[in-house]
Amino acid sequence: MFNQKVYSNRRQNLRKLMKSGFAVFFGNSEASMNYPANPYRFRQDSSFLYFFGLNYPDLVGVIDIDNNTDYIFGNDIDLDDIIWMGNQPTLKEKCVSVGVDKSGNLKALTEFVKSNLKNGRKIHFLPPYRSQRRIQIEELIGIPHSQVQKHASIELIESVVKLRAIKDEYEIKEMEETMDNVTYHMHVSAMKMAKEGVYEREISGFIEGLSMSNGGTVAYPIILSVNGEILHNHYHGNKLKNGQLLLIDAGAESPLGYATDITRTIPVGGRFSQQQKEIYEIVLKAEVDCIEKIKPGVHYKDIHLEAAKIITAGLIDLGIMKGNVEEAVSAGAHAMFFPHGLGHMMGLDVHDMEDLGENYVGYGDGTQRSDQFGLAYLRMARKLEPGHVMTSEPGIYFIPALINTWKNEKKFIDFINYNVLDNYMNFGGIRIEDDVLVTSAGHKIIGNKPIPKTIEDIEKIILP
Ligand code: GLY
Repeated sequence: MFNQKVYSNRRQNLRKLMKSGFAVFFGNSEASMNYPANPYRFRQDSSFLYFFGLNYPDLVGVIDIDNNTDYIFGNDIDLDDIIWMGNQPTLKEKCVSVGVDKSGNLKALTEFVKSNLKNGRKIHFLPPYRSQRRIQIEELIGIPHSQVQKHASIELIESVVKLRAIKDEYEIKEMEETMDNVTYHMHVSAMKMAKEGVYEREISGFIEGLSMSNGGTVAYPIILSVNGEILHNHYHGNKLKNGQLLLIDAGAESPLGYATDITRTIPVGGRFSQQQKEIYEIVLKAEVDCIEKIKPGVHYKDIHLEAAKIITAGLIDLGIMKGNVEEAVSAGAHAMFFPHGLGHMMGLDVHDMEDLGENYVGYGDGTQRSDQFGLAYLRMARKLEPGHVMTSEPGIYFIPALINTWKNEKKFIDFINYNVLDNYMNFGGIRIEDDVLVTSAGHKIIGNKPIPKTIEDIEKIILP
């Protein structure tokens, strides 16, 4: 955990942003896999972690805005728990470690909430993403669980986003160390293992193990596939063949819950083909040039559009697209090959605070979300500020279903040369991704051990 001052300062900062009432932060409970006593690995709620730091199930934190008081509610363990799970700090001890001096059991939480509501005080809570939480809120406050979502406090959402969006030195250090100590090794190991005859699952299993060896786990399910054109492909059953591209999108989560998120695309067997090189260089240029443009005051939406233009220009040079770059991008024709956004915020969640609402996080400054195919998926569009951390992850994909649909519809025939696409139907996809901190001077890529990403460096690692 961070020093207790970090958590009490965060709670104090929230108090300064909110007008009145009390904010309730529900920590997560264990979730069962296949029978009640066989749980998934426990993951604490990220906002609870941010303000209260405690990585234990079944805790509820309260920040009283009006009374300058913080509480943690939860039940102390009993003898049965000690027999099965070993001893644990008491609730009081847990509270002291994060600078909270008021505590009570879960019955006391019910009494606290009910008496404050009776006195006309405003309760604030964040939108729940687990059904169990909705039921808990129904029992505590009396709002039917189907209605809970729309009673979430917008004032609290906006205040939490304002605080969590700006990463402090401790958070940055946590991400940098995890990148260098774990995520770097996950990717370099995957590169070295990518040989003909190896199954994708052998590599994904090994690198997931590496992430756990650091005291955390993966920040999201690993995407590792020779079908890189499937954006969130979690199937790992293919046997690698020389000449295939292997897309690896994997990042470790730090012991305190901070994400890293890196993508590399590599040639099985160690050498890119000419066709692969041509597409790879376009994606790499988009990634590197877009990172160069990151600085305070710039809208990330404009950098996304810059990536779209670089990709379009590159594909025009190869004869895959045609026409005017600006017109093609403004029409959305490039989205055939780059159908997702340039990036998302990252922090205690890999898609940071997505549970609070993507528009509050990536568009919270009033930037408008487009409804155009491709651009609509951009998660982070807002003006950049020092302390923002986000991914830069352009890609080019050849998605047969999308190509065939648009071809049949004769969509964007002024911008796409459908006749050459037969040569790319088995290409797959290329994505290159790094995580970037906005600094007052510009930006810094998270991590101090660059993970190979030029063609030369990748080929050298795989086949020295
Ligand atoms: N790296 C996985 C994702 O951003 O969704």
